[in-house]
Amino acid sequence: MKILVTGGAGYIGSFMVKRLLDQDDQVTVIDSLERGHLEAVDRRADFIKLDIRDLKSLTDFFSGKHFDGLIHFAGYISVEESSKYPKKYYENNVEGSKNVFSIAVGSGVNKIIFSSTAAVYGNPIKIPIPEDHPKNPTSPYGETKLATEETLKALREKNANLSFAALRYFNAAGAALDGSNGENHDPETHIIPLAMRALLTGSEFSLYGTDYDTPDRTCIRDYIHVLDLVEAHIKAFNRIEKDRGCYYYNIGTGQGHSNRQVLDMVEKVTGRKLKIREEERRAGDPDRLVADPSKIKSELGFSPKYSNLEAIVKSAWTWHTRNLKF
Ligand SMILES: NC(=O)c1ccc[n+]([C@@H]2O[C@H](COP(=O)([O-])OP(=O)(O)OC[C@H]3O[C@@H](n4cnc5c(N)ncnc54)[C@H](O)[C@@H]3O)[C@@H](O)[C@H]2O)c1
Repeated sequence: MKILVTGGAGYIGSFMVKRLLDQDDQVTVIDSLERGHLEAVDRRADFIKLDIRDLKSLTDFFSGKHFDGLIHFAGYISVEESSKYPKKYYENNVEGSKNVFSIAVGSGVNKIIFSSTAAVYGNPIKIPIPEDHPKNPTSPYGETKLATEETLKALREKNANLSFAALRYFNAAGAALDGSNGENHDPETHIIPLAMRALLTGSEFSLYGTDYDTPDRTCIRDYIHVLDLVEAHIKAFNRIEKDRGCYYYNIGTGQGHSNRQVLDMVEKVTGRKLKIREEERRAGDPDRLVADPSKIKSELGFSPKYSNLEAIVKSAWTWHTRNLKF
């Protein structure tokens, strides 16, 4: 199949591209490279540098092309940054996505997978969080993702032939087991890469918030290995191909780990001691975010294979020590 991957030079997108190529799909990547890395894109894929906010370039790109499916990762990803620059997030995540979807559907694409997020739920009133939990995002980032889910729903109402799955990721983490690809955001806000950067540079690690309503007072998150995450996309794609419709799935493990537990695991795996500086909690960070993953398990038979915390941290450390030079 011919698959278009937006944001395929980013962390999760680059793993997706390799996974699709490994099953002999033809893959085209569009990415602005504003936050991605060309070297992360598998050389077997076609790469086009393109910003999805640029409607004219996007229209020219699609002209005369046909894709069997679209997997849309491109966007900005930081809760914190989105609170500082909500307009920028809206323009990229909401307007950029609208551009991609409308042109893609106009060109005949009828299968779309969209990278949504647990941030659409906001402060959970129920843990673990099921897909039908109320959606009350507490950040502009979460709002942009919810708005984009709505865009897809509206498009589907006009195009009965369109099928889509919005996958609500919890915390993507980990790296290729051989250290060949890994997480490299700039700005980086995720705990595992930040802890590893702190160890490799000898700098302090900022632990945000030690007053959460959790047993060790640090917040609890659900970590899914990036290799499992891309596998969930394959399952979801097969589903939308077979049964037309719109689907919403949480992608998580159902297991929560506190920030302290993650940092303890980083110290155990690396054999090094972190210099931890305790800071105020960040705005919009709930106490716990843990997925109820039962829907994707029962409907698509998806179960994570690599997502135990030790395996996640080991793979991330392999990648960091081999690839990041400070
Ligand atoms: N990383 C996570 O834990 C996580 C959790 C929930 C949801 N998500 C979602 O998954 C997707 C991928 O996340 P990631 O961690 O790989 O992020 P990333 O920043 O590594 O990748 C995003 C890619 O999109 C590209 N991009 C951004 N704006 C673009 C534009 N206007 N035009 C073209 N390309 C553009 C960037 O250059 C980058 O390569 C995002 O949509 C994010 O919101 C990620």
